[in-house]
Amino acid sequence: TEKEAEQIDVESQELVQNLPTEIGMGGNILYQYQGFWCPKVSIKGMMLFQHHFKAQKTDIILASIPKSGTTWLKALAYTVVNRSHYSLEESPLFTNGPHGVVPFLEFDFSSKNQFQELDKLAKPRIFGTHSPYLALPRSVKESATKIVYVCRNPLDMFISYWKFSGNIRKENEKHVSLEDAFDKFCQGVHGYGPFWDHLLGYWKASIETPDKVLFLKYEDMKKNNVFHIKKLADFLGFPFSVDEEKQGLIEEISKLCSFESMENYEATKSGTGPLGIPASAFLRKGKVGDSLNYLTPSMVGRVENLIQEKLQVSGLSF
Ligand code: A3P
Repeated sequence: TEKEAEQIDVESQELVQNLPTEIGMGGNILYQYQGFWCPKVSIKGMMLFQHHFKAQKTDIILASIPKSGTTWLKALAYTVVNRSHYSLEESPLFTNGPHGVVPFLEFDFSSKNQFQELDKLAKPRIFGTHSPYLALPRSVKESATKIVYVCRNPLDMFISYWKFSGNIRKENEKHVSLEDAFDKFCQGVHGYGPFWDHLLGYWKASIETPDKVLFLKYEDMKKNNVFHIKKLADFLGFPFSVDEEKQGLIEEISKLCSFESMENYEATKSGTGPLGIPASAFLRKGKVGDSLNYLTPSMVGRVENLIQEKLQVSGLSF
C-alpha cells in the first residue's frame, strides 16, 4: 500500500542518515550498510529486497560485485535456461538486453507491491544482485534457490569500475583521479566493497554448499567458455543433451553472448540498462588484463599483497 511505501521511504531515509559515508570512485556518496559500501540508490532497494522478496525453490540468483561480468553472466544464464522457449536467432536479448530480461533485485523494484507481482513471473525466475552473501534474505538461503556468483581479478575489476564510474558520473559529482580511486579501492571503499569480504562470503558458501552456490571467475569463462556454459547448465538443472552438444548449440550460445555479439545488440546500442544508465556503458573492452595498461607495478603489487593477505588462507586466488 501507499502507506507502506511511505514507511519504507522514511525508514530508509532515517537509516541512511545514521550510516558512515565515503566518497566513491565516481565522486558519488557511498554508505556503509551491513558492512559494505553501497550507493544510496541501492539501500532502499536492499531493504525492500530483504523484507519483501520471497524466494521460490526454482529461482536463480546471479550475484557479483559490479564490473565482474554480471552482464555477461545474465546473458548466458538467461539463454541456457530459456533455450527451449526461443530460438537463438530470435533471442529477446537482442531487443531487451541482459539487464532487461534479468532484473536486479535491489535496483529494479521500488515497492513491496512490485515484489509481490514477481510471484506471477514464469518459472524459473532469474534475478541479478550485488548484495553480499550475508545480506541475502533468509528465504534465498533456506530455499532451494540456486546462486551463481561471478568474480574477476580485482585489478581488472577496479579499472573497469573506475572507467564506468567516470563514464556515468553526474555533473555535480567530482571526478576522482585514478590514484585516489585506487587508494579507496585498496581500503575496501568501492561499490559493495570491500571486495575481499564480498568474494569470501560467496566463496565460503560455494564450498559449504556446492549444490547451491556456483562460484565462477571471469578469466576462466573467457579461457574456456564452452566448458563453463556446460557447467552452468548442469548446475542450474538445464543440462545439454547429447544431440544439443552434437549440433554445436553450446558454441552457438557462447557466440551469441560473446562481447563482440553483445556489443551489436540493438538493446546495447540504443537501450538503457539499470538506473537509466545507457546499456552501452556495460560493455567497454571485455578483455583480461586491461588493468595493466593503467596501473603501475607498485599498484599491482599492492593489490597482489592484499589478495594474499585477505584471500590466500581461504584457498581463493587470482
Ligand atoms: P571492461 O570494463 O573490462 O571491458 P558488469 O557486467 O559486472 O558490470 O561488468 C562489466 C565488465 O564486463 C566490462 O569489463 C565489460 O566490458 C565486460 N563484459 C560485458 N559483457 C561481456 C561479454 N559478453 N563478454 C566478456 N566481457 C563482457
